[in-house]
Amino acid sequence: MCALPLGQELCPRHGLVIELNFMPQHSIYRRFDVPGTILHGGGCRRQIAALVHELGATRVLIVTDPGVVQRGVVSEIVELLNNAGISVSVFDGVQPDPTDANVEAGVKALKAHRADAIVAIGGGSPIDTAKVIAIRPANPQPLREFMGLHKIAHAGLPLIAVPTTAGTGSEATKVAVITDTERQVKMMMLSTTLLPRAAVVDYELTLSMPRGLTAAVGVDTLTHGIEAYVSRKANALTDPIALQCIELCAHHLRTAWNEPENHTAREGMMLAATLGGMAFANSSVALVHGMSRPIGAVFHLPHGLSNAVLLPAVTRFSLASAPERYASIARILGCDDLSAWLEQLNRDLEIPRLSQCHGVSRDHFDAEVLKMAADAIASGSPANNPRIPTQEEIVALYREAW
Ligand SMILES: [Fe+2]
Repeated sequence: MCALPLGQELCPRHGLVIELNFMPQHSIYRRFDVPGTILHGGGCRRQIAALVHELGATRVLIVTDPGVVQRGVVSEIVELLNNAGISVSVFDGVQPDPTDANVEAGVKALKAHRADAIVAIGGGSPIDTAKVIAIRPANPQPLREFMGLHKIAHAGLPLIAVPTTAGTGSEATKVAVITDTERQVKMMMLSTTLLPRAAVVDYELTLSMPRGLTAAVGVDTLTHGIEAYVSRKANALTDPIALQCIELCAHHLRTAWNEPENHTAREGMMLAATLGGMAFANSSVALVHGMSRPIGAVFHLPHGLSNAVLLPAVTRFSLASAPERYASIARILGCDDLSAWLEQLNRDLEIPRLSQCHGVSRDHFDAEVLKMAADAIASGSPANNPRIPTQEEIVALYREAW
């Protein structure tokens, strides 16, 4: 058996070590799924009615949350749809860290309106929830049976995803994360049937994002690019997309945070978010996301924040197992010490350490840390990391992030 590091192979013709970064992988096949249509650019939200018509739909359920409604984004889109003769009902019952109960309430609204398409407007929470609402009528078994890879057999209603944060990339992925309220577990579901039919990526919807949110979702985006690129499932189709995501973050994240009205920076981060989603959904996320979901489930920290507090420590832990890949990332970010650079980024964006996060106490942390490590491993994501950790090593990493 060849004992070369991941990503390297002995060339059968020349006997040389070759990098597999952009080479076809011979022994496995990969699948690459993205929405059928992606509109991007300032103002493209005004094409949503045309997309609904293209889908042959006439009755739309909008899935969103109260914060997005308050920002006035939903009323504008309702008006656009109504003016095009489309009947609209709004379900705004999605909470942060959306739950199984949110999904079931949305299904009720869907049936009450007899909707034949869904438009999801918001961050990752409304879009993830809408994905599961859309497939629910065709897949009536208990929700927890959908946890894992390709467990949702039947396609649902067509979904148009309209992100209002430049972060999760959910508009471009076949992934949804829904909290099982009884077990307090974030269920990661990945199925092609969850993929939106169209994504409408209009950076103008992010201009009003507050700084804290810009920081958290921006580092989430960067984490998607990094994890997709260093993942054991990285491949020739996802590598260039992941690197482009990282490069856009390098250019635009600090500016978007410093100058919220800077259109170039906002557009750059919006594109980065969608590219990050395309990359990780077809490669994978890894240890940072595996460890961040249990933090979210236990302490109800926003997803981007729980990733950001882990990213420097997990990067330090993983570096030596994929040195070439991490070196490529460091080159793009323009630094020598990648984990120090990521730590500085958190400080610059005023992202707190885990111990400083609202609602996280040391006693609660100590009581939960073993279960969090077990849940992280059970999610499967740590197995995609360049360096696969033991449960003890995950506990140590949680403590390092504290
Ligand atoms: Fe994420």
